[in-house]
Amino acid sequence: MFEERFKVRLASQKRAGLYRNPPEITKRQGKYIFLGNQKVLNFASNDYLGLGTSSVLQNKVAKNFKTYGTSSSSSRLVSGNFSAICRAEGEYAKYFGYEDALFFPSGYQANIGILTAFFDKGDTIIFDKHIHASSVKGMALSGARFMGYNHNSMKHLIKRLDAHRETETAVITESLFSMDGDFLDMEGFLKVKRQYGFLSIVDEAHALGALGEGGRGLGRSVADITVGTFGKALGLFGAFVLLPNKFKEYLFNFSSPLIYTTTLPEAHAVSAVDILEIIYKGDGLRAQLRDVSLLMRDGLKRAGLSVNGDAHIISVEIGNESRAVAVAGRLLDKGIFVLPARFPTVPVNKAILRVSMTALHTEEDVALFIDTLKEVISAVE
Ligand SMILES: Cc1ncc(COP(=O)(O)O)c(C=O)c1O
Repeated sequence: MFEERFKVRLASQKRAGLYRNPPEITKRQGKYIFLGNQKVLNFASNDYLGLGTSSVLQNKVAKNFKTYGTSSSSSRLVSGNFSAICRAEGEYAKYFGYEDALFFPSGYQANIGILTAFFDKGDTIIFDKHIHASSVKGMALSGARFMGYNHNSMKHLIKRLDAHRETETAVITESLFSMDGDFLDMEGFLKVKRQYGFLSIVDEAHALGALGEGGRGLGRSVADITVGTFGKALGLFGAFVLLPNKFKEYLFNFSSPLIYTTTLPEAHAVSAVDILEIIYKGDGLRAQLRDVSLLMRDGLKRAGLSVNGDAHIISVEIGNESRAVAVAGRLLDKGIFVLPARFPTVPVNKAILRVSMTALHTEEDVALFIDTLKEVISAVE
């Protein structure tokens, strides 16, 4: 029955080097994690500013949970629409320069919640082929026609738009791409948007907090709607969408993943406001993140590796899936934890090591990573 099918599919995943079996982390300590008793240097975390393990934030969040309780106990649409959440959304809208904001339990849910509510049969969605899986799933569930354009190719985007002038069109992209680590061609995108007037949804999950003036991200000039997550640079969990007020009203009425889910607790919302204060004052952390990322990128290039990435996400091309797993495995043996990203996260036979830098990393960490990677890569050749 089902078991037989599962067994066959898992065996084929293993043969293709695509089997996933995440290691169990017993403890986290700043830039280190413990796998059992082994302490390893973590290059696979999205804790870009180090807030996820900051005792300052931990104390604030603990206090908020003590004050406001542990659960909202209801959907926003039933008895979960607390003032603390509405206030926090107002603060987020103001800080990031949008008319309104709306919190979701996760970024995955936010993308599905937006796309399934907004789009329907007869609509056209055009998307960068490298956007996150949650947006791809949201498009598929919406019933709309959706087609990809080559990664960051404005020429291909225009070709797609020209072919679909007859329907209302939305375009989905990211500002800092989550796997390649490169920036959206902001100038090019803005030019095309002005010319075609589509609705743009920009996922800034990896940019907000970490990049832009005051951590406000990169996409404000091109985005009608922005998706941000609390679980990365902001050091918490959950997500927020920055959007026009009329779209928020629409989502409250038509977004199933928002209507039929328990909202995040008040303590989360109050903590989110505390985080804004930290982000506002976070120029030092952002500078450290920028410098250490640059050091890593330049060092990897000098080591002769094929490297992509404009900021704190750096992808090292490996190609073959099994080889990427082998390289990551040997790095782990030597005390370095890094993600071998494989299909379907990236295209087939284009496996990468996704190196994720944080403000906690130092020059010595970078040197250790590069030396160890060079050694491992020549051993796995
Ligand atoms: C670009 C992008 N969007 C959305 C998400 C989903 O966010 P969350 O982890 O809050 O579900 C991710 C996360 O991993 C992401 O990389």
